[in-house]
Amino acid sequence: MKFRLSTLLRTGAAVAALGVSTLALSQAAFPDKPVSLIVPFAAGGPTDVVARMIAIPMGKALGQTVLIENAVGAGGTIAATKVARAAPTGYTIFIHHMGMSTAPALYKKLSFDPLKDYEYIGQVVDVPMTLLARKDFPPTNFPELAAYLKANGNKVSLANAGLGAVSHLCGLLFMSQMGVELNTIPYSGTGPAMNALLGGQVDLLCDQTTQTVPMIKDGRVKVYGVTTLNRLSALPNVPTLSEQGLKGFEVKVWHGMYAPKGTPAPVIEKLNAALRAAMQDPVIKQRLAELSSDIPPMDKISSAGLKTHLEAEINKWGPVIKKAGIYAD
Ligand code: MLT
Repeated sequence: MKFRLSTLLRTGAAVAALGVSTLALSQAAFPDKPVSLIVPFAAGGPTDVVARMIAIPMGKALGQTVLIENAVGAGGTIAATKVARAAPTGYTIFIHHMGMSTAPALYKKLSFDPLKDYEYIGQVVDVPMTLLARKDFPPTNFPELAAYLKANGNKVSLANAGLGAVSHLCGLLFMSQMGVELNTIPYSGTGPAMNALLGGQVDLLCDQTTQTVPMIKDGRVKVYGVTTLNRLSALPNVPTLSEQGLKGFEVKVWHGMYAPKGTPAPVIEKLNAALRAAMQDPVIKQRLAELSSDIPPMDKISSAGLKTHLEAEINKWGPVIKKAGIYAD
C-alpha cells in the first residue's frame, strides 16, 4: 500500500486536532471523579483538620467529592515526593505548610524541588502555635517552667512531627531562646504527638491552634504561651511567649495548596476557584476565626501569590537553617 505525503500530513493534523480537542474536553469536564487531597501528616492533626474542613466546600464548588489521603513521614517530604510524581491531571492535589520552604535546607537529599515540581493553587491559612504540657506536668506557669527546664534539661521530653515539621521548628526556636536542650521525640504528626501528651507519655509539645484551642479550653492540656506577638482572640487569657521573656518569639504557620507540575492551567484555575470559594464560606470563616487562624487576602489565594511567598520563604529559611547546622542525611 502506498501513502501520499499530503494524505499522511492531513491525517496527522486531524489526529493532532482530535488529541487537542479530547484534551480540551477532558479539561472542560474536570472533575468528573473524586479529587484526592494529600495531607502530609497523620489524621487528626492540625493539617488534617484544615484539609477536612475545606474539602467539603471545595467539593461543593467542584461538584465532586474531595477525598483526604494521609501520606505521612519525614516531616511531610514523603507526601511532597508522591505528589511531585503523580499524574498531572488535577485529581491529585496537596496541602502542606511552611515545611515546603524549609525542606530544601533541612534535607541534604530531597527527591522533589518545591520551585520546579508543582503548579500552585494558592495559599490557604495562617495558623499560630501554642506551647503545651501534659496536664500534670509540675510547672504551673512560665517562670516555673523556665526554672524546671534549667534544672531537668533533657530529662524533659518535647514531642514533634519530625524534621521539617513546624512543631520541630517551634521546639528548636524555644530551646535555643531558653538555652536548654530537651529530649525531642518525633511522631508522624502532631495528632499522635497530642495523643502521647494526653496520655502522659511526653511532657511538652508546640502545636498549632487548629488542633490545640479545644484542648486548652477543655483543660485537657496545660498551656504556657502562644507563639504570636499579640494575644489571640480565641485564648485571650493565655500570654504570649514574647511577653513572658522570650522577646520577639514568633511562629505563625502558613499553608499552601499544590498540584503536580504540568497540571493544565484551566484545571488549576478550577481548583483555585474552589479553594477561594471554600475560604469565603461563612462556616469556614467562623471555624477558623474560633481557632484564631487567618484567611490570607484573596490575592494570596492564587497561583502567583503562593509561588512568590514560597520563594521568599525558601530564601528566608535557607540561611537560618544552614547557620544552625540542622539537617538530615
Ligand atoms: C500536623 O499536621 O501533624 C502538623 O502540621 C505537623 C507539624 O508540626 O508540622
